[in-house]
Amino acid sequence: QIVPPQRLIVKDLDAEVDDGKKKVTVLFGTQTGTAEGFAKALVEEAKARYDKATFKIVDLDDYAADDDEYEEKLKKESLVVFFLATYGDGEPTDNAARFYKWFTEGKERGEWLQNMKYAVFGLGNRQYEHFNKIAEVVDDILTKQGANRLVPVGLGDDDQCIEDDFTAWRELLWPELDQLLRDEDDATTVSTPYTAAVLEYRVVFYDPANAPVVDKNWSNANGHTIYDAQHPCRSNVVVRKELHTPASDRSCTHLEFDIAGTGLSYETGDHVGVYCENLDEVVEEALRLLGLSPDTYFSVHTDKEDGTPLGSSLPPPFPPCTLRTALARYADLLSSPKKSALLALAAHASDPTEADRLRYLASPAGKDEYAQWMVASQRSLLEVMAEFPSAKPPLGVFFAAVAPRLLPRYYSISSSPRMAQSRIHVTCALVYEKTPTGRIHRGVCSTWMKNSTPSEKSHDCSWAPIFVRQSNFKLPSDTKVPIIMIGPGTGLAPFRGFLQERLALKEAGADLGPSVLFFGCRNRKMDYIYEDELNHFVDSGALSELVVAFSREGPTKEYVQHKLMEKASDIWNMISQGGYLYVCGDAKGMARDVHRTLHTILQEQGCLDSSKAESMVKNLHTTGRYLRDVW
Ligand code: 2AM
Repeated sequence: QIVPPQRLIVKDLDAEVDDGKKKVTVLFGTQTGTAEGFAKALVEEAKARYDKATFKIVDLDDYAADDDEYEEKLKKESLVVFFLATYGDGEPTDNAARFYKWFTEGKERGEWLQNMKYAVFGLGNRQYEHFNKIAEVVDDILTKQGANRLVPVGLGDDDQCIEDDFTAWRELLWPELDQLLRDEDDATTVSTPYTAAVLEYRVVFYDPANAPVVDKNWSNANGHTIYDAQHPCRSNVVVRKELHTPASDRSCTHLEFDIAGTGLSYETGDHVGVYCENLDEVVEEALRLLGLSPDTYFSVHTDKEDGTPLGSSLPPPFPPCTLRTALARYADLLSSPKKSALLALAAHASDPTEADRLRYLASPAGKDEYAQWMVASQRSLLEVMAEFPSAKPPLGVFFAAVAPRLLPRYYSISSSPRMAQSRIHVTCALVYEKTPTGRIHRGVCSTWMKNSTPSEKSHDCSWAPIFVRQSNFKLPSDTKVPIIMIGPGTGLAPFRGFLQERLALKEAGADLGPSVLFFGCRNRKMDYIYEDELNHFVDSGALSELVVAFSREGPTKEYVQHKLMEKASDIWNMISQGGYLYVCGDAKGMARDVHRTLHTILQEQGCLDSSKAESMVKNLHTTGRYLRDVW
């Protein structure tokens, strides 16, 4: 049963209230919007269940301006629900980083949170080593500092179906909240079953001749001098080169963005976020499936015509544009649809058999089939829509509830501003693979980069909205400190930046300590990227030693960690001299194996038992001498 959105009564989310109602604060740390979406969904449902309570949803960064304010505010909270995502190498999301640092590294406070009851839901991926680390750590500290845990920490697993994990956890939470948020006099009333409404924007259509022209949030003429994900900087592609040789059956692109005169700057080791557009053929297919004209000019709104909000869970709107543009820029069309998207499609399927099947796939009974037919088969949204041709959602539903927003892709910058002040270099492997259904999956951004036209070839060059995300993947401030860099494949990217920086420092007269780079690729003749540059770094003294593992040249696989093992005593010596260790690349395979190898090296070379070696690794990590930039 789907409740149309207009029947849902939503009060102002952020209204400060002081009318004796019970207050619930929902805090979230989100990177891609999933944690925020869950937080909003929980609150929307809770509001329908508990009219004697008020709810506030706050981004962790906005919750407090500084550490003291975090302390002051949390002390006063009586009921808090946290949504915390873990990403990369067991790190908090950008908007939770400040809170996490303060909360985990802060002073000893004793049991200062005794007034607080709380619940934590974590968002992570079991394929990664530090599965849901942030949620678990925060949950643990909250309990230790006196807060009362209402339900066990929810461990959402994005590798399977995180929506199901959230639903299951929420079912545990309701009975607890019932006790806390229902008045005694309505303790006997049975809660009305709540069914989530299908989200829907209000849509305004324009005659293309009179359509508003609003395209400036993509350009550097937006008046912002500080660029971020919401205010990216329009940047031209100046250089594009293929890094693999013709003998390779894969592709890796070297790309240079021009940032001269934009005010955008970066540091060696930072990441660049790139917005790109869906391929024309993907957009065409979406247009065909929606059955609408590409020139339909429209805007989406999160409020009704009279200004009252339509619901708190709607994603932020995008500027007025044609449908073709909206599908190219704002819709993720190739990921598998979420269960909520299936329900939205079902609500607009004219064929009842299709609607039933969509609802079944989204239901608890259809869990296994969803896991197999959707997740394991990597069925894209467009494939699903093609299989349910009667489901034709209106645009307000399609962009609010069916297609998630197309997110920026992040790359480790492969240059140093000391060498390339007005350029941001990217090293990007092409994503091109056959999925189980036989579809060829082309990575949105990597394909765009591979096909882009650089300004050195044409005036009509490609451009993209980009922004810089700071990282802590930085060279030691003392240039004499030894460094060990491990980066096979495109994991080489930040080390190219490091070596450019070292070369520039050396040319400026700095004294450089020893450095070794472990690089890995398949075959010298195919994918040994930047070979000449790496040799030049050695010849010029920016790099002391270059060690390369070729995995597909000999009869057995040779990987960076095998080379690391051969150099065990050198590694031990460099670490003993205060050296730094850097790993960049694939988190699930390589970084995990390298981590184990490092452990073995410390154990053998230092004559340590396993737990001592482990605590040495931990210590290197916490003191910032073992840094990982992994994905
Ligand atoms: P392979 O593809 O031959 O298995 C860059 O991708 C290089 O990393 C390739 O040579 C690749 O080898 C290698 N690689 C794959 N899995 C790895 C792992 N678990 N550890 C280290 N290197 C790995």
